[in-house]
Amino acid sequence: MAGEEPRGANRVVAVCGKGGVGKTTVSALLSCLLSNNSGGKVLVVDADPAVGLGMALSRFPERTVNDVRKEIISAVREHSTDSVDLAASVDYKMMEIVVDAGNLAFLSVGRPEEEGCYCQLNTLLREAVEALSSHFDLTLIDAEAGVEQVNRRVMRSVSHLLLVSDTTLKALRVAESIRKVADDAVDYRKLGLIVNRARGEDDARQLASRTGLPLLGWIPEDDTVREFDADARSFLEIPSCPALEAVRSCILDSGFLS
Ligand SMILES: Nc1ncnc2c1ncn2[C@@H]1O[C@H](COP(=O)(O)OP(=O)(O)OP(=O)(O)O)[C@@H](O)[C@H]1O
Ligand SMILES: [Mg+2]
Repeated sequence: MAGEEPRGANRVVAVCGKGGVGKTTVSALLSCLLSNNSGGKVLVVDADPAVGLGMALSRFPERTVNDVRKEIISAVREHSTDSVDLAASVDYKMMEIVVDAGNLAFLSVGRPEEEGCYCQLNTLLREAVEALSSHFDLTLIDAEAGVEQVNRRVMRSVSHLLLVSDTTLKALRVAESIRKVADDAVDYRKLGLIVNRARGEDDARQLASRTGLPLLGWIPEDDTVREFDADARSFLEIPSCPALEAVRSCILDSGFLS
């Protein structure tokens, strides 16, 4: 992809929410739909150091954003590069670590060995998303749980914020607090709530009404999702099933991404 001209409508979609609510599942199902869609080139970003999305899509890149971080630190320590060269090489290195396959490219943040490195990693991730997203029609980010990456402005360039919740009040409250933080830290154009594992439309509506969040739709509990996850099968190969069709209906057919 290096050397391509930046594209115009570069939408950046972030999937955020409390831990365990289904962010990676929604991201993986949406990736599957986008990979079969002629809507253009998509960059999928696993921004969670727990690398859940890489597992769900069976994508295991040899190099991650964390590897680039370590390379930069070594270069600076060895004084083997000046700051202008460094800035140019960061963009180049980011393009190098994107794994391209068909119309779906993949980038993984990776997992730092020490706690103290997360701040640097998030800064680099923000730069990577900002530099790379202009080369794609759509960038999809599976975020780390909670508000931290939104708070640290990793999601600064996000245009579409997808808040995922399960049916618990705790998860709905986390979705609300992410919206509050995003109102200050992110210049988003659209935001919507997806209630995962809801029992039906009425259930989802009633839960959403406990928040000020606009309901995009709901996803049922789905055995096919459970089986694909249990067997570590790639969600890019998941057949039509209620959860996949729910994601198609509430994110694609609703026009949310337009
Ligand atoms: N609609 C669903 N039907 C069946 N199982 C589901 C559904 N949604 C999520 N799951 C299962 O619930 C578990 C948690 O989902 P997932 O990993 O997507 O959550 P997450 O928000 O990404 O979690 P984390 O915060 O740890 O990254 C997984 O085992 C997943 O397969
Ligand atoms: Mg996850």
